Amino acid sequence: MQNSTFDAQQLTIALPKGRMQHQALALLAQIGYGRDADDPSDGDASRRLIIPGAAGRVRYLLAKPGDVPIYVEYGVADLGVVGEDVLRESGRDVYEPLRLPFGHCRLVVAGWADRPPRPLRLEPNPRVATKYPNLARAYFQGRGISAEIIALSGSIELAPVVGLADLIVDLVETGNTLRAHGLVELRTIMESQACLIANRASYRLKADRISELLERLRRALMN
Ligand code: PRP
Repeated sequence: MQNSTFDAQQLTIALPKGRMQHQALALLAQIGYGRDADDPSDGDASRRLIIPGAAGRVRYLLAKPGDVPIYVEYGVADLGVVGEDVLRESGRDVYEPLRLPFGHCRLVVAGWADRPPRPLRLEPNPRVATKYPNLARAYFQGRGISAEIIALSGSIELAPVVGLADLIVDLVETGNTLRAHGLVELRTIMESQACLIANRASYRLKADRISELLERLRRALMN
């Protein structure tokens, strides 16, 4: 349930649950926007969706990564932390004032390690499994390849292994998951890292508060 004492002038920041959540919270704590020390960290903490920030400066919404740009575009969150890959896939209209120093990965086209060495454009109507259907479609269309894009929710490497797809478009961080399934990177579609995004109206209406947070972040990132 929403905190009814929340001051509308305070900042609401949407954070992606999972890999980047702890790095984002640690960076925000470092600049004085940590969790409220009085907030009980009870056994149910991992299920909480709204976390109060220190000194009433902010509150955090914990959302699925793909939903963060939606919360920010609609203005229920003033700011958000999200990977550029997820942001581009979403196509949401938000302001992007700052890149953050975590969440580095690449969005790649990958296929079998023993695939015959031929250009992707000679691939006959490949089936491509991915969590990034919009980016994958744009990539293949942009190269004149008539790919069939199969949108999945996760464990993308399973698709070629069981014969659902010829290629995948997926994230690579260490490369371990691809290697473990006999797959290799064929092309890089984009490099990605975490970024701070802002609702366009909040950026003007809460300019002082957002500028202060951005200034602190920039100073911390320079050190
Ligand atoms: C991501 C991605 C790869 C893996 C890459 O999946 O989709 O499967 O991480 O990481 P690596 O290069 O370090 O091995 P995630 O763990 O988010 O799970 P999911 O596939 O279920 O989405």
